[in-house]
Amino acid sequence: MTLYELVEPGLVTCAEPRYRIAEIRAADPLGADALLAAVPAMNRDADVAALTVALRALVPELDRVDEWSVVDALAAMRDLGLLLGSLKRHGTEPLAAVPEALPVLQELGRRTDMVPRDTVHHYTTWNPLGRRRRTYTGAEMEAHLQDAVRMVFPALVAALDTCGRLARLEPYDPGFALALDRTAQHVQSMVDSIDFTVSHVTPEFFARTLRPYFEEIDIDGRAHLGPAAAQVPLWLVDLTLWQCDRSDPRYDAFLAESVPYSLPSWRAFHAAHRGGVSAVGKLAAALSWETAHRVPPRLTASALSLARVLRILKTFRARHLGIARKAYRDDLRLYEAGSGGAPVALLRTVLDLTRDNETLVRRALERPRTPAA
Ligand code: HEM
Repeated sequence: MTLYELVEPGLVTCAEPRYRIAEIRAADPLGADALLAAVPAMNRDADVAALTVALRALVPELDRVDEWSVVDALAAMRDLGLLLGSLKRHGTEPLAAVPEALPVLQELGRRTDMVPRDTVHHYTTWNPLGRRRRTYTGAEMEAHLQDAVRMVFPALVAALDTCGRLARLEPYDPGFALALDRTAQHVQSMVDSIDFTVSHVTPEFFARTLRPYFEEIDIDGRAHLGPAAAQVPLWLVDLTLWQCDRSDPRYDAFLAESVPYSLPSWRAFHAAHRGGVSAVGKLAAALSWETAHRVPPRLTASALSLARVLRILKTFRARHLGIARKAYRDDLRLYEAGSGGAPVALLRTVLDLTRDNETLVRRALERPRTPAA
């Protein structure tokens, strides 16, 4: 049984409609199943006229949107989103071609308390499986990339909980190491996801076939990013572990752009924790008070658990940087920046920050044991 299968049933019974994954996947409020099944063929033929007609046909009357539940509104945004990205891929600004979609996207954004465009969650987690799966290309590798991203959603929801607990604890508390160990289990899904991606998606397919569908589009004069994997909120974990007080302006700028694409409760988590003291900050302060040879075992346990999670994050980031470098190498890439709006160089920066924090924790552990000179 996978972690996903263990966590998903818990999400289904949850009051948060955005976690009712099975219901969102099942929903088809626009009656779009048949039309969206034809989108890969329209994209293969670069048939902008057919894509435009399809978008126009799906755009609902505004008063229908008012009657929908959040679950239906999320599913409708998912389905319109597939056509937005498709039109843009062929060089057409979707809202210039179908202006009547603008108020509907804005209303769907308001109803769901999210950006007025589809996000990575619409494209992956909330996307049906099997025959009803929505894809731009119909290619197996596209489905694999969607599945790689969908497998981390339940784990990151669970990490939100353990990180929230961690933020309320001190490193002397036994719960501190426990919250970190649980977080480590959740974050391991990121490593599994990137390993799955490396084995099933080639950099060439990503760079040349898929990446163009994730371009930003213009919505009422503002650029809105496409459904990029970079929007997966790993930053929730970074924030509590080290980022809130040990960051870098480049990562901060990337987060300022990424956070709006996340769910309301995750944005609230970011707002609540961004001015706080990180786990690394708390641990470094606690260890600095301890004299040589007398580090309490609980503090040692907390430090070891913290170093372990940071190591898992580092492993994800090192492997992820490997595939990103290949997909964005000079002779392959079609775009300078990633679909999340940042260059591959940012990934190096975040990897270095993660590694520096891991090193700091490991060194802090070793320092008090070193006999005084
Ligand atoms: C072919 C596969 C992939 C490529 C080429 C790729 C490339 C990139 C690039 C260039 C960035 C920089 C920001 C931006 O997009 O503008 C990025 C960020 C990011 N990507 Fe990917 N990515 C891939 C797959 C994945 C997968 C499967 C996941 C996991 C679910 C993922 C998670 C992330 C995260 C969390 C970030 C934010 C930076 C960080 O936390 O280290 N990516 N990716």
